Amino acid sequence: MQEPNTTKKRMLSGIQPSGDLHLGNYLGAMKNWIGLADEFDCFYFMADMHTITVRQTPADLRRRTLEQMAQYIACGLDPEKNVLFVQSHVHQHAELGWVLNCYTMFGELSRMTQFKDKSAKNAENINGGLFTYPALMAADILLYQADLVPVGHDQKQHCELTRDIAQRFNCIYGDVFKVPEPYIPKTGARIMSLNAPESKMSKSMPEGCVFLMEKPEDIQRKFKRAITDSDTENCVRFDLENKPGVSNLMSIYSAVTGRTYEQIESEFSGLGYGAFKPAVGEAVIETLRPIREEATRLLADKAYLENVCRSGAEKASYVAEKTLRKVYKKVGFLPR
Ligand code: TYM
Repeated sequence: MQEPNTTKKRMLSGIQPSGDLHLGNYLGAMKNWIGLADEFDCFYFMADMHTITVRQTPADLRRRTLEQMAQYIACGLDPEKNVLFVQSHVHQHAELGWVLNCYTMFGELSRMTQFKDKSAKNAENINGGLFTYPALMAADILLYQADLVPVGHDQKQHCELTRDIAQRFNCIYGDVFKVPEPYIPKTGARIMSLNAPESKMSKSMPEGCVFLMEKPEDIQRKFKRAITDSDTENCVRFDLENKPGVSNLMSIYSAVTGRTYEQIESEFSGLGYGAFKPAVGEAVIETLRPIREEATRLLADKAYLENVCRSGAEKASYVAEKTLRKVYKKVGFLPR
C-alpha cells in the first residue's frame, strides 16, 4: 500500500446517507470538497453508521449509500485522487469510537444541539447511539489525523467537541491526534428551507428542499413557490433579520454563481421577486444538471461503484489502522 503524501494537509468529511442528498449538503459541504485533491490529501465517506441512530429501512439505506457514492463522483471527486469510502467498511471507526466514548463527558454530549433537536423529533427512540454520536464523529476525523473538516455551519459544534476530545487525549498520552479545524464556507454554510426560511433546509421538509437528483421542472416549481418576505418592498436586498426568505435565495444564488450580494442587488434592481425567484431556480438547475446526468450514468454501473468502495476502504483502513494501533498502545491494551 502506498504511503499517503505526508507533506500535504489532510481534508476529511462525510455525509449521512439517511436521505437523498440536497442543495444544503451540496453548498454547505460537497462543493467545498471539489478541486482540492492536488493541494490536500482528501478523504470523503458515507457516514452510514451514524444513520442508524434513527431507524432506517435496510434496503433503502444500502441503495442510498451507493447512490451517494455515485453523486460524490458526479460532483467532481475523482476516486483516483480522493479516498472515497463507506464508513462501515472500515472497522476502525467503531473501534476508535468506543475508545473516545470513554474520553467524552456526559455533560459535553448533553449540550449538543443536534442531540436536543433529534431527540425532540424522535421521542420514541432516544437511544444511546444518538447521544454518543459525536464521539463516533470525533473518531471519524481523528483516525485520519485530518487538518481540515469541510462542513456546513450545523456541524461546527461537533467539530469543536472533536478538538476538545483530541486535546484531552493528547494531554494524557502525548501527541497522538492532530487537532483539526472546521472549514466552513462563507456563503452556503446555512441554507434554509425554501418554504420555511426560519428552518434549515433538510430532507424532513421535502417541499422546501431541493434534491440533487430532482427533475428541473420540480426544482423550478419549488423556487417559484419559495417564501419571500411579507414586506411590501418587493426588492431584492440582503437583510437576514427582516428578509430571511429573500436573503436565503440570495445566499443560494451567490453560492452557485459566485456573485456578491451587491452584484445580485444591482442585477435585480427594479425587477422584484417575480423575476428573481425563477432566475435562482434556473441557476440551481444548471449547476445540478451535469451532476444528475453523470450520477445517473454511473449508477448504471454498479460493479464500478462497488469497486470504488472496495479500493477506498482499503486505502482508508491503511491510514486508520496506524492511528488505532497507536491509541490501543497508549491506553494499555495488550498487543495481539
Ligand atoms: P449531515 O449528513 O447532516 O450533513 C452533511 C453535510 O451537509 C451540511 N448541511 C448543510 N449545509 C448548509 N445548509 C444546510 N441546510 C445543510 N444541511 C446539511 C452539514 O453541515 C454537513 O457538512 N455528523 C455529520 C456527518 C459526519 C461527519 C463526520 C462530517 C459524520 N462524521 C466527520 C464531517 C466529519 C452529519 O450528520 O452531517
